[in-house]
Amino acid sequence: MKHRIMQTVIGTDIRQAIDFLRLGEVVAIPTETVYGLAGNALNENAVLKIFDAKQRPRFNPLILHVASMDQFGLYASEVPEACHILASRFSPGPLTFLLPKTELVPDLVTAGSERVAIRIPAHPLALELLGLIDFPLAAPSANPFGYVSPVTAQHVWDGLQGRIPYILDGGPCPMGLESTIIGFEAKDITLHRHGAIPLEAIEEALGRKISVRKNGDPVNAPGQLKSHYAPHIPLWMGDVDSLMQVHHGKRIAVISFHRRYVYPEPAYQFILSPEGDLHEAARNLFRVLREVDTLDADIILAERFPEAGLGRAINDRLQRAQAVFKQ
Ligand code: TXA
Ligand code: MG
Repeated sequence: MKHRIMQTVIGTDIRQAIDFLRLGEVVAIPTETVYGLAGNALNENAVLKIFDAKQRPRFNPLILHVASMDQFGLYASEVPEACHILASRFSPGPLTFLLPKTELVPDLVTAGSERVAIRIPAHPLALELLGLIDFPLAAPSANPFGYVSPVTAQHVWDGLQGRIPYILDGGPCPMGLESTIIGFEAKDITLHRHGAIPLEAIEEALGRKISVRKNGDPVNAPGQLKSHYAPHIPLWMGDVDSLMQVHHGKRIAVISFHRRYVYPEPAYQFILSPEGDLHEAARNLFRVLREVDTLDADIILAERFPEAGLGRAINDRLQRAQAVFKQ
């Protein structure tokens, strides 16, 4: 795929970002989860530019970002009661709803699916921007396809510089993990992607258990590709002590939750939260995956996190980072 070359500016001028969006350009915007690569979702040309800038395959659908619940009705033909309950609790916030789409949503956005993914981001700059425009924003994470999602404006620059005109800088993303995706199929409620709202919080709000789509399930969410979030250095996840024995003799970097290991030297060890706080670990994960990727290590060994709360989403991302090298 050929892409256009242009000057990329990092700034904090919301008006400037809006001017570009109105012209059908794509702009990186901060959200509370990760930076998004946004374009007017109702303008197919703008949406095509998103796919091009990211080099993302067109069969991988995009999330629609809107300013308020009022707009769900425009783009979703049916909003079930459970969706209202969850939205009243978690929106604006990192929860994305899969709902039957209306004709207003271009097929390009949903990759031909009858369902559209919608969320209301909680970042103040994103919300302000969405409140000032009269179209929804289609926005995937603002990284080249397959690489780690960006959690600072600099990360966006590192990946997309020269391909987009503007990066709206809203500081480091406070959550650092993508939104949780929830689907409503007939009477079933399914979690499609672990993310910044833990499964437990959703089940608590609904007062019932929901099903969780397993990675190996048939891909009814076409974009759920396994090989995502991948650093360039091979990553293995599991019991780090045993992995160190298996990979003895290699230059090793370690990503741990809170433990410090005797080996390797400190510059090759990344502790995501010395206090053992999953929120802090989640916030640091993508920054660390990028940092560790700049070392001269042969291999990255990552701990498996407790399979509860945000630990599920962290494990999911590490699993995907590892999957690439196992296929
Ligand atoms: O936190 C987030 O969700 C960030 C910020 C920017 O909002 N966005 C994000 O977008 O993570 P992206 O494109 O990197 O991941 C969106 C996921 C993909 O796995 C995609 O396949 C799935 O959502 N998705 C989007 N629309 C869908 C649809 N209509 N049906 C099934 N899956 C869909
Ligand atoms: Mg992504």
